[in-house]
Amino acid sequence: MGNSKEYAVQMKDITIRFGSYCALNNVRLDVEKGSVHAILGENGAGKTTLMNILYGLYQKDSGEICLYGKKEEIKNPGMAIAKGIGMVHQHFMLVENFTVTQNIILGMETVKGAGMLDMKRARKEVEDIVEKYGLQVDPDAVISDISVGMQQRVEILKALYRGAEILILDEPTAVLTPQEIDELIRIMKNLIADGKTIIIITHKLKEIKKSADYCTIIRRGEYIDTVAVKDVSQEELASMMVGRKVRLEVEKKEADPGEVIFEVSGVNVKDERGVAVLRDLSFKVRSGEIYGIAGVDGNGQKELVEVITNLRKADSGTVKIHGKEIQNTTTRNTMDSGISTIHEDRQKRGIIPDFTVADNVVLDNFTSGKFSPKGILDRKAIGEAAESLLKEYDVRPDNCKDLLIRGLSGGNQQKVIIGREIANDPDLLIAVQPTRGLDVGAIEYVHRTLIRERDKGKAILLISLELDEVLGLADTIGVIYNGSINVVLDRKEANEENIGLLMAGGTLHE
Ligand SMILES: Nc1ncnc2c1ncn2[C@@H]1O[C@H](COP(=O)(O)OP(=O)(O)OP(=O)(O)O)[C@@H](O)[C@H]1O
Ligand SMILES: [Mg+2]
Repeated sequence: MGNSKEYAVQMKDITIRFGSYCALNNVRLDVEKGSVHAILGENGAGKTTLMNILYGLYQKDSGEICLYGKKEEIKNPGMAIAKGIGMVHQHFMLVENFTVTQNIILGMETVKGAGMLDMKRARKEVEDIVEKYGLQVDPDAVISDISVGMQQRVEILKALYRGAEILILDEPTAVLTPQEIDELIRIMKNLIADGKTIIIITHKLKEIKKSADYCTIIRRGEYIDTVAVKDVSQEELASMMVGRKVRLEVEKKEADPGEVIFEVSGVNVKDERGVAVLRDLSFKVRSGEIYGIAGVDGNGQKELVEVITNLRKADSGTVKIHGKEIQNTTTRNTMDSGISTIHEDRQKRGIIPDFTVADNVVLDNFTSGKFSPKGILDRKAIGEAAESLLKEYDVRPDNCKDLLIRGLSGGNQQKVIIGREIANDPDLLIAVQPTRGLDVGAIEYVHRTLIRERDKGKAILLISLELDEVLGLADTIGVIYNGSINVVLDRKEANEENIGLLMAGGTLHE
């Protein structure tokens, strides 16, 4: 008794420094074989770092790793894979124009007789794994043609094909739709039933409750606790993680909307293949209102934002702010007309990774008189603006303005972008998936900030795949389906059921 537990992974007193910064300080992790073990912590807490150490991507400064009770040195990912550890990173690493099978066997091709590649056997093995765990992946599909959810399953498949018994998933659900998340949880259950062990990093407490047996909490590089998930509430998990009480519900007073200041009317767009992606799409946003667009990914959200921000031409229709048409002009014109955008893809549109944090803070307006009087960059002014923004948004680590932004954790990069766009003081703020990848404490802060901007009389267009987020924040909800918004509901008429139904293309009966 007591000692009968078998641990697949034990990490003891793990410490790692990046320069003078201690990212993990004596952190431990005990993962029972055959369990789902969640790791929870704020942005920058060190979750990914801990897993990168387990996977051999980073070398610990001190501490010990045991697998199935035996001490191991894991010097590189090759060694981790050989010991049965697989890792699915948040940014997938697949070759876009290869098929699923080609991606999976890449680097470990089964060879037949005289050095010939035995594709047939490899394909069969892949098919068997797909079948066994209900992965629902077509081995012959080309990566660029399949959804993000399926690409993720390919990454899982790849790890399993290499013999993974311990699977690390780093924020696997950040990029998934609610349907895909349920699918992933089902697959995780199949893997566990087969005796595998899963370590999952996620910020979504609801998912931890749904899928995990244990949860280890780390805060600012320190070990806090490990709990049995069934014994704790979501609120308790949140406060352990942040170190204070967190309100998971958004607190706000009733909206007091004014005039319509932003209007999209009858916009039609065809994509490169001539398929209609926006169809006669119309909606209006008033000042002092959060207009939420709910929808399953791929129903025109991306194209809509591209049209508004002038990254794409509309075939017909208008986009007006304060009555002035801005469609089919330039991105600069969108910005100069009083529109700021928190883009979905922060790596591509939000930041320049090799610039410092400070330079990223002034990215949109470093040519302004404020930051370059007489045409010369005023480093001091830029530094001060950056410092105050970083402080306000609690961007970590402290004093990071001169670091390259690529070194910041994903969530902290997002805080920089949000702060910058709000600092532009726009009339319309477009927030696309603004809290993707953020921890609950940061989400609370971003939500409060959006409400605060609303209450100042700004118009806010929120586009989110998280139904909870739309329901929590929006005053008016438009459901986008197949490139159109056909139903608009007041928040009071909306609930998870009716919006969910509309998102899936259903209709409401009176
Ligand atoms: N290669 C690196 N060089 C310098 N600093 C690093 C490096 N990798 C991580 N860090 C720092 O270590 C800390 C922990 O980062 P990590 O990516 O592990 O956070 P996280 O808990 O995964 O956060 P998030 O939820 O935002 O993904 C951060 O402050 C980060 O800036
Ligand atoms: Mg991380």
